[in-house]
Amino acid sequence: MKPLNKVIIKKNTSFNPIWIMRQAGRYLPEFRQIRKDNPNFINLCLNNDLSSEITLQPLKRFDLDAAIIFSDILMLPYGLGQKVEFEKNFGPKLGQLKLDEIIKIDETDFIEKVNNVYKAIKKVSSNPILNNKNTIGFIGAPWTLLVYMINQKSPKNKLKVNFFENQVLINKTLSIIDKFLKIHIKNQVNNGANIIQIFDSWAGLLEKKDLPDYIYKPTLSLVNYVKSLNVPVICFPRGIKNYKEFCEFVNPDAINIDYNLDPKEAVKTIRIPVQGGLDPKVLLTDKETIKKEASKYLNIFKDHPYIFNLGHGVLPETDPNMFEYLVKTVKDY
Ligand code: CP3
Repeated sequence: MKPLNKVIIKKNTSFNPIWIMRQAGRYLPEFRQIRKDNPNFINLCLNNDLSSEITLQPLKRFDLDAAIIFSDILMLPYGLGQKVEFEKNFGPKLGQLKLDEIIKIDETDFIEKVNNVYKAIKKVSSNPILNNKNTIGFIGAPWTLLVYMINQKSPKNKLKVNFFENQVLINKTLSIIDKFLKIHIKNQVNNGANIIQIFDSWAGLLEKKDLPDYIYKPTLSLVNYVKSLNVPVICFPRGIKNYKEFCEFVNPDAINIDYNLDPKEAVKTIRIPVQGGLDPKVLLTDKETIKKEASKYLNIFKDHPYIFNLGHGVLPETDPNMFEYLVKTVKDY
């Protein structure tokens, strides 16, 4: 059985597998080297030789239990024909959302645009390095994708006041997102992804009254779809105030917590396997602090099925030696 499945399916509490969000990325000099020669980020994701190589870079260096495919949640709007670019020191920049054009896109058009992501998954998952490890495929949650598609850039810490103005646009877009996310999940699984993680990076922007319509129901539709394929699904509703309620409503196979949630509170209230939590900034300190903070999570979750990870992606300024030290600390625990 693959390491993450032992925790997620078997509910094993005697060992803690580890992988790290954004483990393939800018903190690694070998990634920055490739990135330098590939200024167009989307094209890099769509170069399956390079994206599979980047996916495996952290596994060649560190004793990790899973690979997460090097791609992006914004491959969905890209596949739907919305313009997606990444600007240095700015982040994602999307073109205008044109519903009249997006509704004309069918499954074949979409797959044609993003097919190299699936080819990369096939290459990665069949690599012997991953024989006894998981290959994680992923999607953005409908809410977070809706935010990017309408806002056309990262919302930072709040939504535009008129974000919900055009309800027709919002509802039609959500229904298109649901349809194509299922297509995207199916193709990742068919090519070797054996876990799906759903990233809802902007879940924390919503008021409580809006959670059922924009988070719980749309995410449940996808969680049930992944379950129907017999693949475990991990949700990461970053910044949501009530993880307990999220889990009761959506019931994924495991939940990634963010670093603002008190892990002691999490272990008391969450009934399903937990992943993550450690503040990525801890990796910018020293070995003693890293050991202390990582042990804190491992101690708190010692009798709970727990996958080690962070409470958000690894920061680009992280020293790979500190990353290595963290992995070793978890493995030696
Ligand atoms: O190693 C991995 O985790 C796999 C690859 C991965 C990337 N993006 C690569 C990437 C994954 C799982 C994502 C998910 C993603 N993408 C999320 C959800 C997780 C989160 O961080 O909240 C979001 C919101 C996005 C959208 C996105 N992509 C943003 C906001 C940015 C720019 C932010 C930044 O750090 O500059 C990206 C670009 C991006 N995606 C990079 C990487 C490695 C950096 C690209 C670069 O400039 O080299």
